Amino acid sequence: MEVVRDVRALQRRADEDRAAGRRIALVPTMGALHAGHLALVAEARRRADVVCVSIYVNPTQFGPGEDLAAYPRTLEADLAACREAGASRVFLPDDAALYPPGAQTVVEVTELAKPLCGAARPVHFRGVATVVTKLLVAARPDVAVFGEKDFQQLALIRRLVRDLGFDVEVVGVPTLREPDGLALSSRNAYLDAAMRGEAPALVRALDAAEGAHAAGERRRDALLAAARAEIAKAPHAEIDYLELRDPGSLAPAPERLAGPTLLALAVRFPARAGSAAGDVRLIDNRVLKESLS
Ligand code: PAF
Repeated sequence: MEVVRDVRALQRRADEDRAAGRRIALVPTMGALHAGHLALVAEARRRADVVCVSIYVNPTQFGPGEDLAAYPRTLEADLAACREAGASRVFLPDDAALYPPGAQTVVEVTELAKPLCGAARPVHFRGVATVVTKLLVAARPDVAVFGEKDFQQLALIRRLVRDLGFDVEVVGVPTLREPDGLALSSRNAYLDAAMRGEAPALVRALDAAEGAHAAGERRRDALLAAARAEIAKAPHAEIDYLELRDPGSLAPAPERLAGPTLLALAVRFPARAGSAAGDVRLIDNRVLKESLS
């Protein structure tokens, strides 16, 4: 496995691969790799000959007061995990490689960035769109693989790729979960024991709404109420958003659902006196579909 730090060097390696007929997959990450990321690498290996994992904690997607400084950085373990998972290449840029001094160019997916996570984190998706564009330009992949846990991010990247005409297939990989259903996330490392005990409330909320939907409930407010009741059982959990939206456009769902609908949820566990844990915000989602049976 090779480690490449320079954009031009990565582009040259990609050109060599393409000239030799090898398909390239890119797995963009911010490091702190867990089994969820390794599932992305496994999917990338199924779809390409060369798997490039990028590891870069992108400062522009963190707002003021967010966890940029505290974001977990576990480079040695990440490199070992990439090697073990069969990655061919790790792209490890520093800030100057991706944001040369004086850089002024940003990429903005205007509408898809507004609701859900974008409402509370106004600069976040501009940072994501900008860095993902730079990573696609640098790695020149045929396929780029992302997790479905960050559903809004995935929708936005699909739109970015379409709008800018990148010749790359965007692949979403289903969320990996702990045995109790908690979605794997680098931010789970911030949870203290009390928060961790309550965190499965997110998946239980999704299950409750999905159960009601499977039983025939189509009223938007009733489905949201079923999910909200599960979060209410977790005394320290505060709903940041709980919404039903169109999975493609992210437009609000109608009062009666008609067709596949995204249920998206963000929950905050505020810092408490006596615990070293700070505020932790977790997200999860489920697409409610008509059952096939
Ligand atoms: O999902 C992430 O880890 C990041 O948002 C991404 C796509 C690597 C961009 O920094």
